[in-house]
Amino acid sequence: ELEAAGARTPSRSPVRPAVVVTAAAAEVRAGVDDAAWATTLSAAAKALQLSSVPHLLPCREKERGQITAFLRTSLAKGGLGSALYISGMPGTGKTSLVMEIIRTLSAEAEAGTLPAFKFVELNAMKLATPHDAYSQLASELLGVYAAATRAASLLDTHFRTANKQRLATVLLVDELDFLMTRQQTVIYNLFNWPQYANSKLIIVSLANTMDLPERLLPKVASRLSPLRLVFQPYTREQLVTIMAARLTDSKTQATFEEDAVRLAAAKVAGTSGDVRRSLAICRRAVELLQADGGRGKVTPSHVHRASRDLLGSLIVSAVASCRPWEQNLLIAVALQQRATGCHVLSLVEVWERLSSLLSSQSFHKPAHRRAGVTHATSSAASLLTPPSCFSPIPTLAECVSVAASLHRLRLLFLEPVKSTPWPNVRLAIGVSDVATALPDNELAQRVLA
Ligand SMILES: Nc1ncnc2c1ncn2[C@@H]1O[C@H](COP(=O)(O)OP(=O)(O)O)[C@@H](O)[C@H]1O
Ligand SMILES: [Mg+2]
Repeated sequence: ELEAAGARTPSRSPVRPAVVVTAAAAEVRAGVDDAAWATTLSAAAKALQLSSVPHLLPCREKERGQITAFLRTSLAKGGLGSALYISGMPGTGKTSLVMEIIRTLSAEAEAGTLPAFKFVELNAMKLATPHDAYSQLASELLGVYAAATRAASLLDTHFRTANKQRLATVLLVDELDFLMTRQQTVIYNLFNWPQYANSKLIIVSLANTMDLPERLLPKVASRLSPLRLVFQPYTREQLVTIMAARLTDSKTQATFEEDAVRLAAAKVAGTSGDVRRSLAICRRAVELLQADGGRGKVTPSHVHRASRDLLGSLIVSAVASCRPWEQNLLIAVALQQRATGCHVLSLVEVWERLSSLLSSQSFHKPAHRRAGVTHATSSAASLLTPPSCFSPIPTLAECVSVAASLHRLRLLFLEPVKSTPWPNVRLAIGVSDVATALPDNELAQRVLA
């Protein structure tokens, strides 16, 4: 407008000063615009932070329905025998969704449309030892500070004793994996209490590992809830929805080109499906744009660079620090995926692939160099000299335990299969990541590069 005004009033002021005024005004406006845009970019970065959890989590509608129904039913019948076991990879929204549901139900209880309940959260990862779970629970629930053993017996008495006035307790046991002990007594007791007729205890437990029930002793497993729910990793479409919703909610959707968001989702969907990684890539992309002067939108090229910065280094170091037999299994999974074009593979076919790879390898390289070669200095040589606890060609059972440890490192996923004892396997990283991470591994370079 200023420019137009200057142009329309040549009679009042000579041309030259008008141009000066116009240029100055444009500069001022550009400055104002730049500042506003910088603010918008910062707001976008903030909306992409983990702590900016939306009021209603998108993409978990089905799970929200199931957990809410479980809690409503349990509260209606006063808690007896109520436990829900939820598992899913980290970053699949388990904790956030349960907390959101508790907020909703607490509001209903406050309004009097639902029986009142007491909510207690126990995060096992934050405990010094698993047995401290008793002390913390006794303190939250009974207001008593006691060492673990006494706390356990106080709680046991509490849950055994009938008390009409007592509210139902909803106990969220987060990071359940960390309550694992050799005897598994903490997990056993926790899941045993809701079975007491008077306990009024409702448990929702969250585990990050998929194979926890299989690692439990039969006696303990029998106590773990029959009600189980699995949070699948987010798909690419869901990741796009989640990130787009965060930008729209904060009115900062203009900061990203659509393709940039889609690319950030694709980078992660192909691998872990962990929304925290997509969000981190997007935040880093905003930073890169800001470092470039902060003009314009975040483009796919920013996202590419951000992803290289973040994921590349993480994955490469995780793979590179794996033990030789773990690396071998990763190579076999990667090769099988590339050969078949399938992302979900049966462990049996991977094992067969690994067996044939290893036998061909020793055929190619009959001379073992054993002495003085460490895994760190030569992974190719260590391939030929596996640790003594492993036969050169692992058995299927050994393969399962190696796969389980890779699952815990989030380098691949194991998915139980109903009809067989052998799980399915899915690589959590790209095939090319395996080759990139193992530049000195002869097998990886021979079959994957
Ligand atoms: N559906 C979703 N929508 C928006 N943000 C999500 C969603 N799921 C996860 N997040 C984000 O990812 C973070 C990790 O989720 P969290 O609930 O802690 O996962 P988990 O407990 O499964 O490890 C949350 O803090 C939240 O910011
Ligand atoms: Mg969690």
